[in-house]
Amino acid sequence: MSTGKYAVKKIGIIERYQEYLPVTDATPIISLNEGNTPLILAEALPRELGLKTQKIYYKFEGLNPTGSFKDRGMTMAMSKAVEAGSQAVICASTGNTSASAAAYASRCGIRCYVLIPEGKIAKGKLLQAYRYGAKVIMVKGNFDQALELVKEISADGKITLVNSLNPFRIEGQKSAAFEIVDDLGEAPNYHVIPVGNAGNITAYWKGYNEYKRAGRSEILPQMLGFQAAGSAPLVSGKPIAKPETIATAIRIGNPASWEGAIKARDESNGLIEAVTDEEITQAYRFIAEREGVFAEPASAAAVAGVIKLAKRNFFKDNARIVITLTGSGLKDPDFALSFDDKIISADPTVNAIREVIEL
Ligand code: F0G
Repeated sequence: MSTGKYAVKKIGIIERYQEYLPVTDATPIISLNEGNTPLILAEALPRELGLKTQKIYYKFEGLNPTGSFKDRGMTMAMSKAVEAGSQAVICASTGNTSASAAAYASRCGIRCYVLIPEGKIAKGKLLQAYRYGAKVIMVKGNFDQALELVKEISADGKITLVNSLNPFRIEGQKSAAFEIVDDLGEAPNYHVIPVGNAGNITAYWKGYNEYKRAGRSEILPQMLGFQAAGSAPLVSGKPIAKPETIATAIRIGNPASWEGAIKARDESNGLIEAVTDEEITQAYRFIAEREGVFAEPASAAAVAGVIKLAKRNFFKDNARIVITLTGSGLKDPDFALSFDDKIISADPTVNAIREVIEL
């Protein structure tokens, strides 16, 4: 193997954070070099909100190999599945988990079955699962129903469940908290995150706690979770039979990691609140149009949450606020193109183009 400047280095989260993860020398590492995503300093958002002393950062998970944070958990879940001799994996998904499961299953050559709510997942995610070669099963129902099905089907152990009920998913996903502390040199004061099935908020809280215990940080953040108003069971305190939201990734009525989310909220002195689809849409447009950061609608729920909290002067002075942008905006082209400001069509002449340019 070459050792020159451009040698291919393995930099996935398992290699990077091995000592904090349940792996041994016998674990085959199934990786696509996930993790190591950028922490981007927000400029327009704090300016717009009048946050003069606070710093806001976007942890942009859309830059993972399949375009979402799911790859962190999937490298762990798939590595452990292969270690255990599994021949096939299954998951229910609002899209990103299925895209990630399909990619990692392709990487290690095992079969992958994904159950997705028919008509309710973003096109980019559907085509990823399909192109990576998974068997895509459209369920005439919602995510919660699909999750019940895969739990039952995987119960006999013949096929490995790779939803976040699989504890290795949470283990891998906690690495994002490690990276943030490594980058900032300390944990942030606030961590803001969209909440759907609630695995990720559970994982971050675990990660921050483990890193603190290991002496890598002195403080713990307050965990601030945001659900879409039509799909906010953790806010109302009871499951929702028919969840709705334009942020299809978090269109979930009965989160699997319910207790983990409540624990993260309460132990961190944090909160879990709801934001409306309109607030999500505004935040989604703001970060793309004003910050140059293109994330999917579910991710924008966390940004909408920051906007909401800033308006009631929630954030203390000099605080550091990290927002997880969970997935790439490229995942959902239909939503991206659904606004009134249509793309302009013009004749191929200088005059026609000049007419459009506003200078
Ligand atoms: N953001 C995005 C882009 C997601 O895809 C998800 C979950 C979440 C936020 C919420 O994370 O479930 O850990 O609370 N997507 C899952 C899926 C449900 O099937 O892809 P969570």
